[in-house]
Amino acid sequence: MWSSRLAFILAASGSAVGLGNIWRFPYLASDNGGGAFVLIYLGCIALVGLPIMAAEILMGRHGRMSPVNTLRKLTSEGGHSKGWVVIGWIGMAAAVMILSFYSVVGGWTLHYAWLYVEQLFGGAPITDPDATFTAMLGSPGTLVFWHTVFMLLTVGVVAMGVEKGLERAVKFLMPLLFLILLGLFAYGLSTGKVGQAFEFLFTPDFSKVHGSTWLAALGQAFFSLSLGMCGIMTYGAYLPRDISIPRVAATVALTDTSVALLAGLAIFPVVFAFGIDPAGGGPGLIFTSLPLAFNDMAFGIPYAIAFFVLLAVAAWTSSISLLEPPTAFIVEKGRFSRKSAALLAAAVIWALGLVTALGFNVWASVRIFGRDLQGAVEFIASDLMLPVGGLLIAVFAAWVLRKDISRGELPDLGNGGYTAWKVLCGILAPGMVLLILYMKLAG
Ligand code: TRP
Repeated sequence: MWSSRLAFILAASGSAVGLGNIWRFPYLASDNGGGAFVLIYLGCIALVGLPIMAAEILMGRHGRMSPVNTLRKLTSEGGHSKGWVVIGWIGMAAAVMILSFYSVVGGWTLHYAWLYVEQLFGGAPITDPDATFTAMLGSPGTLVFWHTVFMLLTVGVVAMGVEKGLERAVKFLMPLLFLILLGLFAYGLSTGKVGQAFEFLFTPDFSKVHGSTWLAALGQAFFSLSLGMCGIMTYGAYLPRDISIPRVAATVALTDTSVALLAGLAIFPVVFAFGIDPAGGGPGLIFTSLPLAFNDMAFGIPYAIAFFVLLAVAAWTSSISLLEPPTAFIVEKGRFSRKSAALLAAAVIWALGLVTALGFNVWASVRIFGRDLQGAVEFIASDLMLPVGGLLIAVFAAWVLRKDISRGELPDLGNGGYTAWKVLCGILAPGMVLLILYMKLAG
């Protein structure tokens, strides 16, 4: 059990805040034209993410087991079809795919932290960030090495069951990351480009919006909040009865969204100040822009080390929450200890991560859905599987789950509030997911 409301909020925020906020949000905003994407993303957080987060937490708290077993319990209790257990399966598959590329990108942050440590001891400065980034992608050895290190760090914590220890450290490290971002924002003020960054991020230009913009924003809302794969359900299982679900869900969503927006406001002034094209920054955006700021500012090297190390820590706490569901699943199959289950899951995910790592070099010419291998895995898991998983969770919670259960888990909502949650979860959220998937398919 979480000892308090704060403990739950910290743990869930540790899962939510990660590469999604600081690496993925700025690059998607860049690729999708800025303001309109950000507006749709915020709308998806409020209207789709929040109600589904409440649904995941309440299902978890009622079931009090791992996602697949929670779904088994909820369906057999209510006499519903066992088919709903498929939600747990989709979630596990999505977690495996997401962690496979997440770990490679986590490795990028470790590699950059290392490059700056070397610089501190006289290594060559990063004068041409584009070239440094391209060189990293071109080197299978570098990518696989740091991917392996990142995966070992993740599996180490899960196998040894020391998540609690990491969470204690995170209490100090995450606020520090927030301060580092604030510092970058302050640096941005000195460049005089903050206004331009605001305009780019918050002035919607709907002429730039396509089906793919909507889907990217929806997928990012799920990705950033760690929703749609029953991860938050796992956390809900440990939430005491007397804690208000809507309040903790709102707090976690607000924390997560603030970090993403702050990251955007820290990065785009740098992008504009150094004349980088804000359109189509791609997954390299923070790695090709921020080093220019680090070169320019006072104490840039230690600042860069702090930034990349703290970003790696944020990624680490998120990756642990991605390794949990497959590990729990293998343990429940019975024949493995927790330690070997974590190792087995990590080995499979590590191997799948090679697809991402080698997709940048050896298999660079391979295209799926017009994307490179990393882009394809990222797209299928984050933009298709998470929204579909979330849709099923929402429909299950609103239409299938017995009303006395959901009402009982949301006692602090008045009747109006409860009805609003039901409408959002049962009609609006599934409707938006279906509409957006349709818009994308229809081109
Ligand atoms: N939300 C995390 C981030 O933004 C990534 C993450 C952790 C995640 N657990 C998840 C994404 C579960 C989807 C589902 O970096």
